[in-house]
Amino acid sequence: MGDLEKDNDFFPKCDFRLAVTGKGGVGKTVIAAMVGRHLREKGMRVLLVDGDPAMGLAYLFGTDTGKTIGGYCDQLRKNPKAKRELESGRVKDILVQEALIHLDDGTGMLIMGKDEGTGCFCGINNVLKYGIGAIARDYDAMVIDCEAGLEQMKRRVLHSINVLLVISDMTARGVKTARQVAEIIAHGDADMILPEKTGLVINRYKENRSFLDRAKEQTGLDLLTAVPEDEYVFEMDMSGRTIAELPADAASYVSVTDMLKQSGILKTGNAL
Ligand SMILES: Nc1ncnc2c1ncn2[C@@H]1O[C@H](COP(=O)(O)OP(=O)(O)OP(=O)(O)O)[C@@H](O)[C@H]1O
Ligand SMILES: [Mg+2]
Repeated sequence: MGDLEKDNDFFPKCDFRLAVTGKGGVGKTVIAAMVGRHLREKGMRVLLVDGDPAMGLAYLFGTDTGKTIGGYCDQLRKNPKAKRELESGRVKDILVQEALIHLDDGTGMLIMGKDEGTGCFCGINNVLKYGIGAIARDYDAMVIDCEAGLEQMKRRVLHSINVLLVISDMTARGVKTARQVAEIIAHGDADMILPEKTGLVINRYKENRSFLDRAKEQTGLDLLTAVPEDEYVFEMDMSGRTIAELPADAASYVSVTDMLKQSGILKTGNAL
C-alpha cells in the first residue's frame, strides 16, 4: 500500500474510533448501530464500517449493500491496471469513489462485504487497514462492526482503534470468547497499538448479579453496562426496521447511551 503503510500518524483527525467484537450472535451489530446513532445525534460526523460479510450494520442503517469493498477487490483481481493504481498509494481516493456510501452529509459507510475471489479476507483486511484509515480522517468518529470471533483482532485490523467494546450475552461461551479477546489485548506484541479503553458489555441481560460478577472476574475487564433484553430490538429485527426507528426510550438504547455518557469513553481521543 505504498506510503500509507509507513504513515505512523495514521488518524490525525478521526479522534474517536470504536469497535465491537465478541462471539457470534451476541449483539455486536445492534450495539454498534446504537453507538453510531448516538454519535450522529450528538452532531458528530460518523464513519460506519461494516466489517462483517453478513452486512448486518448496513441493513440496520437502511443502506443499499450493492457497493462493497469486497466487490471492489474482486474487480481489482480482474483488472491489473486498477490494482497497480491502488498500489501507487491513491488508495483513499479510489476507495472513496468505489466503496464509500454517503448516508447523509455527515455520515459515511464502508461495507466490507464478501471477497468472492479467494474466500480469504487477508487482502481486504489490508485494504481496510490502510484505506479506511485515510478516509476516517474526514470524520470525527469511526464505529466498526467486526465479524464474529477473533480473526480480525489477530490480523490487527483493529490495531489503531481507541475503544474496544467486548460484547457477550449471558452464556458461558460468550464470556469465554470475551476472555480470549482480553487475552489477545493483554499479550499484544510490540507493534500492536492497544485500545485506550477495552470494556465488557453484557447484552440481553436478565437480572442476575452473580453472572455479572463472574463475567467480570473471568474476563478481567471493566463492566461498562448490562444491556437489557429488549422487546423493541426484537421487533426492529423482525420487521426489518432501521436503528433510527428504535424508540429513543427503548431500555437497550438508554443503556448504551448512558454508558457512552457516563463511562468516560467519549473522552478518549478528545471526542467531546
Ligand atoms: N438487547 C437485545 N434485546 C433483544 N434482542 C437482542 C438484543 N440484542 C440483540 N438482539 C437480537 O439478537 C440477535 C443477534 O444480534 P446481532 O445481529 O446484533 O448479533 P451479532 O453479534 O452482530 O451477530 P453476528 O455474530 O451474527 O454478526 C438479533 O436478532 C437481535 O435482534
Ligand atoms: Mg453482526
